[in-house]
Amino acid sequence: MNVNFREYKMGSRFFALALGGSMTITLLLPSFDIASVSATDIAMDKQLWAGHETGFSLDDPLLLGWHKPVKALIKTDPKTGQAMEPTSVYVYEKGAPFPGGILHPDNLGVVSKKLSLEVGRIAEASNKDGAVFLVSSNDQKQYFIENATATRGWTPEDTLKAAGDENVSHAGAGKTYFVREGCWWCHTLLPEQTQDWQVFGAPPMLGDFNGESPTAFGSDRKAPDLLHVGSRNASREWMMLHFFNPRLVQPHSIMPRFDYMWGPVDAKGVKIDYAKWRAEYNEYTEGKRVTPPEVPMYASNSEIRSLIDFVLTMK
Ligand code: HEC
Repeated sequence: MNVNFREYKMGSRFFALALGGSMTITLLLPSFDIASVSATDIAMDKQLWAGHETGFSLDDPLLLGWHKPVKALIKTDPKTGQAMEPTSVYVYEKGAPFPGGILHPDNLGVVSKKLSLEVGRIAEASNKDGAVFLVSSNDQKQYFIENATATRGWTPEDTLKAAGDENVSHAGAGKTYFVREGCWWCHTLLPEQTQDWQVFGAPPMLGDFNGESPTAFGSDRKAPDLLHVGSRNASREWMMLHFFNPRLVQPHSIMPRFDYMWGPVDAKGVKIDYAKWRAEYNEYTEGKRVTPPEVPMYASNSEIRSLIDFVLTMK
């Protein structure tokens, strides 16, 4: 009898502990003012290349990557044409919706909001005319968003011309495809505070997500975390082979092919013969060919270019 009673007492204490613990979390967490967390420079960079809402939205109902900004590297001043330190800029052409931090500067946190409004003049940016933004910092290494159209007179057209197509990244559209293709069913974008440090790199900071929607953390992990994948593997060629058919580089991969994202034609405008490619690939897997068929070079306006831009942006 005694023994049973003691077990009952233990059980009730554990139950109280579990209930108390979970109630503490439930009551405490909402009392933290998460909205007051300042955006990091990573968050500013990310929201500026990703643009507004990536996913099911009226700006892009079919998830085709419409109305997205581009990130470009410029080496000459778009206005004066003079050489300058290589600088990353974010170009919003006419009508491309601005991201959270521009629409709602409160998202940026107290310091960045003040600097972005007063020094960066972001409130003057016009959606109708388009704008060019920068992530700038002051002498105290405090980061803010600068509206270079207002501060330096850089227009979207001049800036794209100064950059040239090869220095433009379509990572924003690429993130749309990441959402549409369901990459997040298998991949996470959230290394955790466990052994993940050793394999997938550092977990992100809370302030890295200000203004980002959606975060695309993933549901559960069936494949490597991709938050820092561009640091492990920066090879565009490898990415091309792997997306065309993952089995070309990882013989037992369960990842699907994304060859259809090449579209109808290759970089030279020649029609891609998918049936022929697969027939030759099958001969290769059956040992009737020594090498697999060549993967076509993608056209510069293909979806796969944007997807690879996005993947390689994740450093
Ligand atoms: C069915 C699950 C699945 C889906 C869906 C999937 N992947 Fe994968 N992916 C994997 C697996 C498993 C691996 C590891 C084996 C390999 O490299 O193929 C992988 C590897 C990768 C790698 C290399 C990772 C590294 O650590 O080097 C990249 C990049 C990648 N996937 C991107 C994507 C993108 C982008 C999409 C969506 C267009 C996608 N994957 C969709 C399962 C998946």
